Parts: sequence; C-alpha cells; structure tokens
Amino acid sequence: MKATANAGSNIAFVKYWGVRKDRRHRLVPLNPSLSMTLDVARTTTTVEFLAGLRQDSCTINDRPAPPDALERVRRVLDRIRALAHRKDFARIASANHFPTSAGIASSASGFAALALAASRAAGLGEKQHNLVSVAVLGSGSACRSLYGGYVLWSPPDAGGRRPSRLRQVACEDHWQLVDLVVILTRERKAVSSEQGHLLATSSPLLKGRLASLNRLLAKVKRAILHRDLPTLGKCLEADALCMHAVMMTSRPPLLYWEPATLAVLKTVQKLRVKRGLPCYFTIDAGPNIHVITTPDRATGVGRALKKAEGVREILRCPTGRGAFFVEEPLF
Ligand code: PMV
Repeated sequence: MKATANAGSNIAFVKYWGVRKDRRHRLVPLNPSLSMTLDVARTTTTVEFLAGLRQDSCTINDRPAPPDALERVRRVLDRIRALAHRKDFARIASANHFPTSAGIASSASGFAALALAASRAAGLGEKQHNLVSVAVLGSGSACRSLYGGYVLWSPPDAGGRRPSRLRQVACEDHWQLVDLVVILTRERKAVSSEQGHLLATSSPLLKGRLASLNRLLAKVKRAILHRDLPTLGKCLEADALCMHAVMMTSRPPLLYWEPATLAVLKTVQKLRVKRGLPCYFTIDAGPNIHVITTPDRATGVGRALKKAEGVREILRCPTGRGAFFVEEPLF
C-alpha cells in the first residue's frame, strides 16, 4: 500500500539538548522539551513497500537523498518493518515546501511525515506510541511535529518503566504566534545536532541547566495557557542562551553562532526596548535565529530585522497543525 503524509517543522521554546544511553544502549534525551509546530515550513512524503525492491530508495525534492539522510531513513524503516513483521523494502519520495532552499532544518518535518506515511504504508495503525518511537530514530525533535500547536515531549524515566511521551499542551487555535526565521546562511553546519547531543555531558554547565528545567517548563506551559507572550519570551530567550552556553562549554566546544547571529539578537532586544515591539529570539543548533512575535506585529518586526547586518532572508511561519494524511501521492 502507498501512503502520503504532510508535517510541519517545529521550534522548541524549551530545548532538547543532550542524550544518555539506556539499559539497552539506546540513546534517550536527557531532558523534556516543548515546541511550537510550524506552518509553511512543511514536508510531504510518500512511502510504498514493494516486494521487488532490493533496498530502500529515497528522493528529496526529486534528487537522491544524501548518504547521511538515507541512513536515518533506513533506521526509521527498519523499526517500521520490525513493528509490522515484514521484510520488504520501500520507495520514498519527499518534498520540502520551504520557500527557501535550506537554512532551516527539514529533519523534524521530514521524519514526522515519514513516520506517519510509513506506518500506514506498512499496515500499522497510527498508534501514538509507535509513531513517537519511530520518528525519533530519524531526529528526536521530529516526534514533536506529529502534533500541532504546542507540544511537550517527555523522555522515558531513568528506570525505563515509563516510555517517552508526547502531549499537546494547547492546540494551534488556542494561540496563534509567528516564528520569523531569520536566515543568515544556507550552509550545512559542520557539527550535526546528532553529534552535538553526545557532547552535552562534557559541559560543566549541563547540570545547572537540567536542574532548572522543571521550573522553566512549568512557567512556559502556564504562559502558553494564559497567552502571556512577555513571560514566554523571557523564558525562551533564557533557555536558548542556556543551551548555547552548554554547547560553547562542551569539549570540544560547539560554537554555532556567526557574528551576524549576535547582531540580530541585539536588534531583537532593541526593537523590544526602544520600539516596544513584542519579539523574542531563540536559536537551534546553527547560526540562524527564530524570532517569535504576534501575527499583527510580524510584518513590522520582519521589516526591521531585514535591515540587520548579515540577514539574507526571512521566512514567516505561523503556528501550525500536526501531521496529517494527504490523498495525492508524490509518485
Ligand atoms: O532533533 P535533533 O536531534 O535535530 O535535535 C534538536 C536540537 C535542537 O534543535 C537544538 C533543540 C530542539 O529541541 O529542537
């Protein structure tokens, strides 16, 4: 059977950074994370299991997937095959609907769409537990894109009794925000987040971050439920800086920022203090900046950010819905 799904990317307000090995030597996150699912930055993926294939094949935007992406796709499909008790290989086609060519990560939207499409194509039900455990094999943060709005991903407990869980804190209609993705560069980063997660425990600052996260998480959830942007904004800026402090102090250090990253952070602060604009920054594992603002102020904030040093392009992504099935396949 052929199945097609669509999913949006997401931006974390409380970041997932760092992994540990569980009793079965699987990598599990060190901390819970909470994100907003994005519209516009979406991916459509079609999957078909076919008896005659000798290996899995995958195209992204009509080109063969690069080897590292293909390896992650195969990890996801191996898990699907194990769950569905089947051995056949699959053909996959994926299309990113991002208006820009790169600059923003497509792994979250890509692997959420792949998990949903592949589980239906393999004849599995769309059980949430299955989908989370499948999507995380492509990229941890991808599981949060299965749901729309504001999504909390809690890792399994240390004893391994409670599996990892996904929960929608609020749906996209509860509160519409805008993520202005400020693109400084489209180059691939030298150290992937997959490699970066393994370095987190070498930072002397990690303990402090982990110890403060439960309080921060409670505050962020409350701010979302009360649609309180100033509180949410302060929290998301603090956590982004804290995560980057962990990155910068790991061994070897991870320095994702470019000089223009700092220039944009300062512009965001200025827009807020001097012009009273409701805008707050966060940064993932790369130099690009995400500026969270309200729909009515997004155009003004975007215009001002465009003038900042080193800004190439700005992508406007509203709060989006979760992953869903699509009728028209890509092949
Ligand atoms: O899902 P990964 O392995 O690409 O890790 C995501 C890491 C961050 O984007 C920096 C934080 C997050 O929670 O999205």
